[in-house]
Amino acid sequence: MNLTYFFEELWKQYSAKTPSAEKVKSLLEAEGNKVFNDHIAIRTFNDPRVGIDVLARPFIEMGYEAKGEYHFKAKKLYAKHFEHTTDTDAPKIFISELLLEELSNELQEIIGSILDQTDADTLSQNDLLLQGRIWNTPSYTTYKRLLKESEYAAWLYVNGFCSNHFTVDVNKLKTFSTLNEVNTFLKEQGFAMNTSGGEIKGSPEQLLEQSSILADVVKVEFMESTEEITSCYYEFSYRYLNDNQRIFTGFIAGSADKIFESTDMKLQQN
Ligand code: NI
Repeated sequence: MNLTYFFEELWKQYSAKTPSAEKVKSLLEAEGNKVFNDHIAIRTFNDPRVGIDVLARPFIEMGYEAKGEYHFKAKKLYAKHFEHTTDTDAPKIFISELLLEELSNELQEIIGSILDQTDADTLSQNDLLLQGRIWNTPSYTTYKRLLKESEYAAWLYVNGFCSNHFTVDVNKLKTFSTLNEVNTFLKEQGFAMNTSGGEIKGSPEQLLEQSSILADVVKVEFMESTEEITSCYYEFSYRYLNDNQRIFTGFIAGSADKIFESTDMKLQQN
């Protein structure tokens, strides 16, 4: 699969369910910027059928290699990030997986039965990430049960495989020089920021600052009814030079931990 084609298709699917991202991108372009994508993020379960290795395989084939790894104890997540070996403009890939063995038996059983609805053929496709939800129409009762224990599990059950976010590379914007300026612009335009852990996560000392707008809310058809559920969100990153005068390319677990909450329905009610 061709990298440019893949990211174009991924953006099409993502922006269709994240209208705010398309709006923000257009607004930044109208100000005279070209928008570059710093990274995408993928959510999955650590079941061997769909774990990080399965979702990373097409990227490895397109020239990516594994770099950092991250632990999120409270959210029961493990993550790895991948960088392209030669194309420095290629977005980084952040893949997290929910550690099923740390969940209740009930949740393990529910998630196991969801994954039993998938077939090996679909799971082996290179474009798995473009296929969205590859299991049956979700049940609202099941969604609510998952939500009680893991917001991440509930979101993934409804949204399936996709890019959970794209990320504006603020370093490459022409008309903005700090993340704070971008945030101010977004708020002036009426977008709601994720303020969990502060509007800006990270610091110059950590070499990475991140912010995000709250996820869009879209109508989702469940077996029982149609409900409004969070889809995806747009993130913004500003990276600093490390001691070797190279731009830091990793991630900060403490910041990512708060960024995850951009899809939390509880933040929508403010
Ligand atoms: Ni991110």
